Amino acid sequence: GKVAVLYGGWSAEREVSLMSGNAVLAALRGRGVDAHGIDAGRDLLAVLAGGGFDRAFIALHGPFGEDGTLQGALEVLGLPYTGSGVLASALCMDKWRTKLLWRAAGLPVPEFELLSAASDFDAVAGRLGLPLFVKPSTQGSSVGVSKVRHVSELRDAWALAARYDHVVLAERAIGGGEYTAAIVDGEALPVVKIEPATEFYDYEAKYFRDDTQYRCPCGLPPAREAELRALARSAFELVGGRSWGRVDFLLDEAGAAYLLEVNTAPGMTGHSLVPMAARAAGADFPALCWRILETTLT
Ligand code: DAL
Ligand code: MG
Repeated sequence: GKVAVLYGGWSAEREVSLMSGNAVLAALRGRGVDAHGIDAGRDLLAVLAGGGFDRAFIALHGPFGEDGTLQGALEVLGLPYTGSGVLASALCMDKWRTKLLWRAAGLPVPEFELLSAASDFDAVAGRLGLPLFVKPSTQGSSVGVSKVRHVSELRDAWALAARYDHVVLAERAIGGGEYTAAIVDGEALPVVKIEPATEFYDYEAKYFRDDTQYRCPCGLPPAREAELRALARSAFELVGGRSWGRVDFLLDEAGAAYLLEVNTAPGMTGHSLVPMAARAAGADFPALCWRILETTLT
């Protein structure tokens, strides 16, 4: 059948999505799939309704692609699509509410607070400690995220994040390392460890720098890695995720895990983590794209 690869869009992650979508498009075509790339604009629904497509591969990141709005529209059109449904997509776009849910279910998350113009910034820094992270609740690729080392930087960090979302989170820094686990069709792939050369794994480090180190296998003892894969699966199931996604988490110096977020339409660029984990599991990029597309058949 005819597959629409949806990419581009108009979120802050447009450029990333163009990279993801082009890679997916080339991979599916290489496998003989009748795949068509569609740069998602405001006319997207008209394009899809008249296009004779059988299914959609969503390679859009952020608002209006990864956040449940598009998923709802595709439900109305009756067009099967990759990735999570409306609820999980919308929930996972909101880091604050995702953390509230995990915390309520007893899953580990870094200590966090909401920031506003009226916040007592000194008191927040006192409670969470420094450094701490400030992030808009609803963005991806670290857009609008700051690592705050001095309390004097906190207001500017809040103002930057507030340009992207009125819900801004301050989060305790966890120092033992950054990790991620991809989920594809109910299975957690090998864990990837990320070692950015920058202060944290920011937008530059994610897509443009070549000095970020990725480790897969991640170097943890196999039994510990198995626990973390199980934790990632539980976290994904709890938010109602399906098809595929990626669960990001941190370890502290003692090795305890803290969940950060779920990406329901993770990056599929040359620098991206799900393709890396799939490769470690023996699936090349086209095989991964095929497997993700297959989840729309069920
Ligand atoms: N938000 C980016 C695309 C990712 O999670 O990979
Ligand atoms: Mg993200």
